[in-house]
Amino acid sequence: MLHTIEEIYAKAEMIIKVKEPVASEYSLIREDQLLFTYFHFASNEDLTHAMIKNKSVCLAYETVEKADKSLPLLVPMSEVAGRMAIQKGANYLEKPLGGRGILLGGVPGVLPAKVIILGGGIVGTQAAYMAAGLGADVTVMDISLNRLRYLSEIMPSNVNTMMSNELNIRKMVKEADLVIGAILVTGARAPHLITKDMLKEMKAGSVLVDVAVDQGGCIETCKPTTHENPTFVIDGVVHYCVSNMPGAVPFTSTLALTNATLPYAIQLADKGWEKACRENLDLKNGLNVVKGDVVYQAVAETFNLPHVPVEKYLT
Ligand SMILES: NC(=O)c1ccc[n+]([C@@H]2O[C@H](COP(=O)([O-])OP(=O)(O)OC[C@H]3O[C@@H](n4cnc5c(N)ncnc54)[C@H](O)[C@@H]3O)[C@@H](O)[C@H]2O)c1
Repeated sequence: MLHTIEEIYAKAEMIIKVKEPVASEYSLIREDQLLFTYFHFASNEDLTHAMIKNKSVCLAYETVEKADKSLPLLVPMSEVAGRMAIQKGANYLEKPLGGRGILLGGVPGVLPAKVIILGGGIVGTQAAYMAAGLGADVTVMDISLNRLRYLSEIMPSNVNTMMSNELNIRKMVKEADLVIGAILVTGARAPHLITKDMLKEMKAGSVLVDVAVDQGGCIETCKPTTHENPTFVIDGVVHYCVSNMPGAVPFTSTLALTNATLPYAIQLADKGWEKACRENLDLKNGLNVVKGDVVYQAVAETFNLPHVPVEKYLT
């Protein structure tokens, strides 16, 4: 057990973290040290330059990618955020917190709340399960007909599916008590599916939880908020837009994340990063910055830096 962060960086050959290094860590990171964590380089130019400068080996959770294009180290956080979105939404629908004072599941003789979920991916599916379990009247909207077909097969009977388009969204949000924004367009900013003018037609005290806020948000009026100050109200509609939702439940989030990262971490520790990345393409896709070179094309393009093919280090 080491007692200071300086000792850890001085001794360790491999560092496993959750969030990207903060500025005070930049100078502690050593040449050839392996860092396995979320980096999100494309949204942080200072971090990118700092990791180039210290010549470390940066393997980013968010770009570890399987052959079927799925991102196994992003899934656990989406699962947490999706489930939490309903918990938060139910909470903010309560009158003392600014909501319209409606119980998600209703009671015998009183109709349940209407929950609209935009996007039926990982976040949307987990949110739908939670809302359905509480007895709400749930509709999941997506642009993928195949995804809607799948959801309609596996979901309980209080979950309906609907094609996502402007006409349908406009109609549904008017009647909604709780709307969850859960869309993702890979590599792009989320489009604004709920526009300012739609907000005016929503019920006073209804609640919007924009989980997609970390990609710019799919609700025009959303801006990122924090756990300390999670909501604001526009046109009588409560907005919850915390960009790091899993941070509020670190016990669950840490276990969920390490369940997914540990098999990869063991390979890196046992084989060393070069052999592990040669033998496991998921891990190879995670390499972003290696010994001063940007080896991940999208990061190089974002900051106009030279892109060095990762194979330089893996032959
Ligand atoms: N705020 C947080 O703490 C937090 C945590 C985890 C994930 N997220 C974010 O949640 C969002 C969803 O993540 P995910 O893992 O579920 O992604 P995902 O790729 O599994 O699902 C996204 C879904 O959105 C659908 N979609 C795309 N455009 C659409 C449109 N116009 N209308 C309806 N559906 C549309 C896709 O077809 C897909 O099914 C992402 O933006 C992610 O970054 C936020």
